[in-house]
Parts: sequence; C-alpha cells; structure tokens
Amino acid sequence: MTARRPSLAVVGATGAIGGVMLQILSQHADVWGEVRLVASPRSAGRKLVVRGEESEVLGLTEDVFEGVDVALFLVPAEVSAQWAPVAASKGAVVIDDSAAFRTDDDVPLVVPEINPHAVRMRPRGIVANPNCTTLALIVAVGALHAEFGLRELVVSSYQAVSGAGRDGVAALREQLSMVAGTELGTKPGDVRRVVGDTQGGPFAAPVALNVVPWAGTDAGDGWSSEERAIRDECRKILGLPGLRVSATCVYVPVVATHSMSVHARFENEVAVDRAHEILATAPGVVLYDSPGAGDFPTPSDVVGTDPTWVGRVRRSLDDPQALELFVCGDNLRKGAALNVAQIAESVAAEFPRP
Ligand SMILES: NC(=O)c1ccc[n+]([C@@H]2O[C@H](COP(=O)([O-])OP(=O)(O)OC[C@H]3O[C@@H](n4cnc5c(N)ncnc54)[C@H](OP(=O)(O)O)[C@@H]3O)[C@@H](O)[C@H]2O)c1
Repeated sequence: MTARRPSLAVVGATGAIGGVMLQILSQHADVWGEVRLVASPRSAGRKLVVRGEESEVLGLTEDVFEGVDVALFLVPAEVSAQWAPVAASKGAVVIDDSAAFRTDDDVPLVVPEINPHAVRMRPRGIVANPNCTTLALIVAVGALHAEFGLRELVVSSYQAVSGAGRDGVAALREQLSMVAGTELGTKPGDVRRVVGDTQGGPFAAPVALNVVPWAGTDAGDGWSSEERAIRDECRKILGLPGLRVSATCVYVPVVATHSMSVHARFENEVAVDRAHEILATAPGVVLYDSPGAGDFPTPSDVVGTDPTWVGRVRRSLDDPQALELFVCGDNLRKGAALNVAQIAESVAAEFPRP
C-alpha cells in the first residue's frame, strides 16, 4: 500500500447525522485526503462546507465510490442495504449508521471504548454503528460490566425527536408552534385535535405537551424495533448472548439527546463508591452525580457534547447486586456521527502514514 491519506465519502451528507458529521470532520484531527459529499439525486449540486471549504454534493451513483477508501453511510436503512455492498465491492471500507447490517453475523458492531478490536473482523467490508439509544447506554454500562459482570438490564428511554431524523425535529417544532400560548393539555385528546393526525410526522401520537411510548417499527409480540435493537445490540457488543434485557422506548419533546433510566443487575454485590470510581475514569463517560446539589445530567445541559453523562447512581434498595442510574447522551454525536467518525479514524490508522 502506498503511503497517502485515505479518501472518504460521506453518503447522507445533507441529513441530520450528515450535518453533525461535517462539523466533526472540521473539528477532529484531519486524517483524510479527498472528502466526497454524497446524498440523493435531489441534493446533487448543493454546496456544503466541510473542513472550512465549500464542496458540491454528488447524487448517489456507483461512480461516486471510485477511488474511495472509506465510505460513511448516514442514510435510511433501505438505501444502505442497496448501496453499502456496492461501495464495498469497489474496495471501500463501509461504516454504516443504519439498522441494515447490525444483526448480520459477518458485520461487526463497534463501539471503540468497548470492543475496538472488532473493527478488523469485517469479511463483508462493512462495519455497523449501533443504534443511538444503545450507544448512549453501552459506554457506561460496558465499563461497569468489565468489573461487576452484567447479568440483566431494564431500561426506560426518554428519546429526543431528532432520533427520527430531520422530519422528527420539524414535527416537534411545528407542533410546539401550534400549542404555544394555548391552554391545551388539560382535556382528553385536546392536543391531538389541534395538532391533527397529519401533523404527527414520524410519531404515532402528538409529541408536543406529550410523551409517545412507541419508537421505530413493529418488531412483533408487542415490541418496537428500537426496544429489540437495545437488547440485540447490547448482547452483540458485550459478547453476552444470554444477557437479559427489557427496554421501553419513549419519545419526549426534546430536540437532541437521549436519556435513559437504567436498572443494571450484576453477577455479584455492587458498591456505589466503586461504581463511582469506575464511571469517573471510564473513557467516554462523565460522572455528574451530586443530586443534593442539583448535579445530575439533563438533555438540555448535555446536548452538543461528546460523552455519555451518568448521574443518580444508587444501589437498588431491594437488591444488593443491582444499580440504578440515569444516563444522557447526544444521539446525533456519540449516538451516531461521533461513533461513526471514531470507527472511521481507527480504519484510517490502518493505512500507512504519509
Ligand atoms: N437521528 C439519529 O439519532 C440517528 C442515530 C443513529 C442512527 N441513525 C440512522 O442514521 C441514518 C440517517 O439518519 P438521519 O437522522 O440523518 O436521517 P435524515 O435527516 O432523514 O437524512 C437522510 C439522509 O439520507 C439521504 N438519502 C435519503 N434517501 C437517499 C437515497 N435514495 N440516496 C442517497 N441518499 C439518500 C438524504 O439525502 P437528501 O437530503 O438528498 O434527501 C439525507 O442526506 C438512518 O439510517 C438513521 O436510522 C440516526
């Protein structure tokens, strides 16, 4: 291999995750040669700024992958399913942020703080990025697992609307403008009547002045795809096929940053002091846990930051082997673009340095 900076394609550069990826590419140490921006043919010719320079968006075709070493896929799953193998067949290492390949046994699911070695085991030339809820959770829980041995997780999420992409954000903003200054929220169905079914956007119910206990698609037996993803992905990343996981995923009227309350049960008794020590030094985690002083993470404080923030750490009153915690992580940064960028940078490090 000749020594040169690897070239990069960002597929989905115009989307919610794509926008954050362009910021990260401008903020992180620049390991890339050419960076090519790609989106649907609708966006071809649009100009976006990356690394301080304007760049023209290309419509997705086979040709955009010519000479590309690493291709980031930040597009809907059906687009990844069709085009990621095309990019891989052209020699690019694909890092895919969609659900298309996460459960494929021949595609590693990578969180650099937890299973960095997995990135090199990619027989299909594709590496998958976990779901944003899994990512906000796994960095903290994985650190505790390494010491205490995780046996069970019970998770309730408070998910931001940007988890449903730019349409989710647009729907919340539209709904908020419709309910602002009204007395709505005091009678059954009054918000739904004003917001109307057509204003729900990607959500199954109004999300302004409300919470919506359904995220993703129907995964059977009453579970949503988001809830199944947390279970399947935690098992795969931690290498614990028998891990017991129950999740309930709920959208809340927050723009960005997912929060979760977590009940984590371990093999042995746990001590809060030791859990604090582990979390205070775990890579990618900030411990923020003095509730008496008002110090606990909230999405409005955490949004725009990289780490998973953890607070409200306490031992279960009725189970000395279990901890309760509250975690917050920006779903657009660590929950998506940042983790993809970290994986991509580790792949870039495989190339000989110029
Ligand atoms: N939002 C999150 O918190 C989050 C977290 C983790 C993972 N993800 C996953 O990341 C992916 C992107 O999510 P997002 O929130 O950024 O979505 P988004 O805001 O809706 O953006 C979608 C992007 O995909 C492009 N695209 C759509 N159809 C295309 C096609 N046929 N060919 C080429 N490009 C196409 C769009 O280009 P145009 O602008 O040209 O339409 C746009 O750049 C999804 O798979 C999502 O599930 C999202």
